[in-house]
Amino acid sequence: TPLDKIRNFSIIAHIDHGKSTLADRLIQVTGGLTAREMSEQVLDNMDIEKERGITIKAQTVRLSYKAHDGETYTLNLMDTPGHVDFAYEVSRSLAACEGALLVVDAAQGVEAQTLANVYQSIEHDHEIVPVINKIDLPAADAEKVRAEIEEVIGLDASNAVLTSAKSGIGIEEVLEAIVTRIPPPKGDADAPLKAMLVDSWYDPYLGVVILVRVMAGTLKKGQQIKFMATGTTHLVDRVGCFRPKIEQLTELGVGEIGFITAQIKEVAQTAVGDTITDAKRPATEALPGFKLVQPVVFCGLFPVDAAEFEKLRESIGKLRLNDASFTFEMESSAALGFGFRCGFLGLLHLEIIQERLTREYDLDLITTAPSVVYEIELTHGGGHLELHNPADMPDPNKIALISEPWIEAVIYCPDEYLGPILKLCQDRRGIQKNLTYVAGRAQVTYELPLNEVVFDFYDRLKSISRGYASFDYHQIGYREGDLVKMSILVNAEPVDALSMIVHRGTAEARGRGMCERLKDLIPRHLFKIPIQAAIGGKVIARETIAAMRKDVTAKCYGGDISRKKKLLDKQKEGKKRMREYGSVSIPQEAFIAALRMG
Ligand code: GTP
Repeated sequence: TPLDKIRNFSIIAHIDHGKSTLADRLIQVTGGLTAREMSEQVLDNMDIEKERGITIKAQTVRLSYKAHDGETYTLNLMDTPGHVDFAYEVSRSLAACEGALLVVDAAQGVEAQTLANVYQSIEHDHEIVPVINKIDLPAADAEKVRAEIEEVIGLDASNAVLTSAKSGIGIEEVLEAIVTRIPPPKGDADAPLKAMLVDSWYDPYLGVVILVRVMAGTLKKGQQIKFMATGTTHLVDRVGCFRPKIEQLTELGVGEIGFITAQIKEVAQTAVGDTITDAKRPATEALPGFKLVQPVVFCGLFPVDAAEFEKLRESIGKLRLNDASFTFEMESSAALGFGFRCGFLGLLHLEIIQERLTREYDLDLITTAPSVVYEIELTHGGGHLELHNPADMPDPNKIALISEPWIEAVIYCPDEYLGPILKLCQDRRGIQKNLTYVAGRAQVTYELPLNEVVFDFYDRLKSISRGYASFDYHQIGYREGDLVKMSILVNAEPVDALSMIVHRGTAEARGRGMCERLKDLIPRHLFKIPIQAAIGGKVIARETIAAMRKDVTAKCYGGDISRKKKLLDKQKEGKKRMREYGSVSIPQEAFIAALRMG
């Protein structure tokens, strides 16, 4: 395809503003799918994505559109993930495009996530076409949103396209805007091949599928290619695009987006952002912006039933085939037995993996307290240490200095929720950097220790703002902190899954909260159970669970035998989902519940 007939664009939107619905409409109108095939949303193709309504993996679709000027254009629509955890993938998708549709819900207006993505898009020199969606809603106020786009983002929204993706209004106007307003790609067709690796995933039939954007030269079937960052060479055995069904091609020309396969078995061999070049006539310089993504949140995953360890190993291995961004290594713990220490891009990523293991692989898991990576400098020239697991914390007198990662967070919310949000940030050791009001909404910027955000900050924020606050963050480096390891002891035995690294100033409150919650979560036993939080040998909080004679059948007065049996079965079932600590049984739910801060 000649360059001037190509348009590459992505869609940026806040979650739920209608990105997938609009994408599906564009596919439908340009004839990619029949109405029946449209009954399912096609771009979000994983079950969990569908249920949670979020997009995890970037996907791309090629559309053919005959425009009002009589010419037929090739439009490549790049779908991007919609969550902060996947910011790097988003940045590579954006780098593959020349423009973006900015979809804003006509009833909700601009939100923080939208802002972060728009700024990224602007950084990539994109032409941005504002699309005000959901104009069919009674609460829609297109003019207000138009003004907000101009005021908050600083984009000219006078020619924003008004749509209802749901009812199919304004779709052709969107297509015309793509053709007339977004510039065609540039690039030298005769130069050595340079293609950006935008995304990759494992397909059971095709092996690893790699999504690419050709920046220079041509990528052909049968070509020997080289990955510049990883250094490996491969033979291209398929070239094609998604319409959204697979269409095989013989080559991808400069400016085009499509996929290749090259008999690669694991996505771990393909690094997002890498430059693919011709092995025989390589480019001298790689494309800018490559970065190796590193997990930032770590936790242990252990099977509730020790006999399921092998099954867990196998399942994690399978998931990893398709997701090179999470890491795992075997870990053993005195109390939890064998499991894995896993690293994730963020909490949502952790939750997704955990949920898939539970749901798709039918595993009962114990998740230990999520932790960030701490940097420790040891005394007496003992060197540096990266701490991924609170269990490996060195003796305090061997630590010269410990530092923790900080983030800068931007929270955007309606005015009336500001008070409790400021308090939440303050409680989490936040440092307020900026506070502005735009169009009746507050935008507040905080620096926060990542450690204070990883567990339930996002959930708390959503609940205190009744879902109206949005949140976006990026890391800003390490800072020294007065950090200590807090252990939880149940019946005088440390429960390693619950030990965590905390700031000394908040340790007592955290410890007290944890003991109080555990007191409610652990069932009574025949004996008294002390629950303690301790730093080193010093107990900082304590609760006691009173003893009780546990006889669930007592209430049945010996009458109804079947009811009695049912109760006993139920009790047995409950037992299976408990962990024994010394002689205390802790229900599985208690682990996660106890970690939620009050
Ligand atoms: P993520 O994939 O989570 O980023 O969300 P999204 O932006 O892709 O939103 P999606 O397309 O899944 O739409 C979210 C919800 O809004 C769905 O329930 C859609 O049916 C609904 N929706 C999308 N467009 C419209 C519209 O034009 N009008 C109305 N009333 N609802 C819409």
